[in-house]
Amino acid sequence: MVKTLVVVGTQWGDEGKGKVVDLLTDRVSGVARFQGGHNAGHTLVVDGKKTVLRLLPSGMLQENVMCMIGNGVVVSPEALLAEIAEVEAQGIDVAARLRISYGCTLLLPYHIAQDQLREAAKGKSAIGTTGRGIGPAYEDKVARRAIRMVDLLSPEKLAEKLEALAAYHNFILTQYYQAEPIDAKEVLHALMQQREKLLPMIADVSAMIGQMINENKTVLLEGAQGTFLDIDHGTYPFVTSSNTTAGAAATGLGIGPCNIDYVLGIVKAYTTRVGSGPFMTELHDDIGKHIAEKGKEFGSVTGRPRRCGWLDVASLKRSIQLNSVSGLCLTKMDVLDELDKINVCVGYTLDGKVLDLMPFDEQRLERCQPVYQTFQGWKTSTAGLTQMEDFPPLAREYIESIEQLLSCPVVIVSTGPDRKDTVVIKDPLA
Ligand code: GDP
Ligand code: IMO
Ligand code: MG
Repeated sequence: MVKTLVVVGTQWGDEGKGKVVDLLTDRVSGVARFQGGHNAGHTLVVDGKKTVLRLLPSGMLQENVMCMIGNGVVVSPEALLAEIAEVEAQGIDVAARLRISYGCTLLLPYHIAQDQLREAAKGKSAIGTTGRGIGPAYEDKVARRAIRMVDLLSPEKLAEKLEALAAYHNFILTQYYQAEPIDAKEVLHALMQQREKLLPMIADVSAMIGQMINENKTVLLEGAQGTFLDIDHGTYPFVTSSNTTAGAAATGLGIGPCNIDYVLGIVKAYTTRVGSGPFMTELHDDIGKHIAEKGKEFGSVTGRPRRCGWLDVASLKRSIQLNSVSGLCLTKMDVLDELDKINVCVGYTLDGKVLDLMPFDEQRLERCQPVYQTFQGWKTSTAGLTQMEDFPPLAREYIESIEQLLSCPVVIVSTGPDRKDTVVIKDPLA
C-alpha cells in the first residue's frame, strides 16, 4: 500500500507539480511541502478558476485534507500570511487546516534585500533568482544563526536573536553593499504581530506525519522547484539553495527514508527553464516561440518568460536515478499538438565523444551538443482528453518511446491546466 508519495519536478521546475498534487489530493489525509519557499509558484485550475500557491501546500483547495509545511521550508511570515488571506478570501478555512513545523527557518526582510543586492551586483553573471531571499535564508540556517518558527514562542529570546541577526546583516548591507540598514525594531514589531496569527498553526509536523503513516493514512509530499535546481545535483551555481530531489522529503519533514513508498516524477513533454544557466536543448527559433505562447510559459512567481526547448532524455535519466522515480506524470502534451516534427534529445556529443547521460559540471554542460531523435507530430488536438484510447496513435507513440528511452512507466498524462484534463493510466496511489 502506498502511504507516502513524493511529487518531484524532474527538470528545472514548473513541470505542473501543483496541478498533479491537487488532482491526487481527494484521496489523501495530508499534503506537506518539504523544501523551498515562496520562490515556488504552483498553479491549480479547478473548473476554470485559477489559484497560484507559493508556500501553501497544493492540497489546500480540497476539503478535509491537512496541509503541512515541513522544517525544510524557509518561511516568510509576511508572504505566508498574505497568501493565507488570499486563499481565505475564497472561503477556505486555511488556519484550521494548516500546520507549520517548529523547525522552519524564518525568511526575513534582510534576506530579501541581500538576494536582490547580490543579484544586481553580479550584473551579467546573475543567477536570475526570484529575488525572494531564498539563498540568504538558507545561508543563515546552515550558519546556525537563523531564527526559526519555534523562536516565536518566546518573545524575549526572539528579540535577542533578532538583534544578533540584524547586527550581522546590517553590517553586510551597509559595509559591503553600501545600502541602507533595516531597523531591527521594525522587523521585531512586525514579527510580534505576525506571531499572533502564526502561533496556533505551529506544530510538530514530523510527529503528525509519523502518526498518519502509523494509522495507514496517505500523505503527499510536495516538492518545489526541480531536480536540476538542486543545490547538490543541479546545474551549480545556477540552482536554488535547497535540495529539491526526493530524498529531501525525508529530511525536510522529519520522516525516515524507508517511509517513502512512491516517487512520482513530473515531466513536461518539452523543457523549460527560468533564470540563467545551461540549457542544452534550448530553442531560439519560431518553434521555441510557439511552445512558449501555446504553453503560456511565463513564470507564475515573477512573470518572467520561461526559456523553452525540447525534451531531454539524457538529463531525465539522471533525474530518474537521483530521485528513484517510480512512475512519471507527463504534462502539457497538448502544447505539442500543432508541431510537424518533435525532437527528443537522446544524448550529447562532447569533444568528439557521444554521451548518453548528462554531465554534472557547468564546464562540460556548456559545450554539450544535443543528439536528437525526431518524432512525427500528431497534428490533432489532445487538449482535455481523459482516456488513452482517444489519443492519436502518433501521440501514443511519443509517450511509449519516452517510457522506453527512460525505462520508466508514464502513469499519468496531463492534457490541460484544469484538474479534469488528465488521463490516469495507472493510479500511483492504488
Ligand atoms: P509547478 O511549479 O510545477 O506547479 O508548475 P507551474 O504551475 O509553475 O507551471 C505549470 C503551468 O502549466 C501552469 O500554468 C499550469 O496551469 C499549466 N499546466 C499544467 N499542466 C498542464 C497541461 O497538461 N497542459 C497545459 N496546457 N497547461 C498545463
Ligand atoms: P516551482 O516550485 C522554476 C529558479 C530561479 C533561479 C534559481 C534560483 O514553481 O517549480 P531562487 O530564488 O530559488 O534563489 O532562484 O531557481 N527557481 C525556479 N524556477 N520554478 C520554480 O519553482 C523555481 N524556484 C526557483 O528562476 O533560476
Ligand atoms: Mg512553478
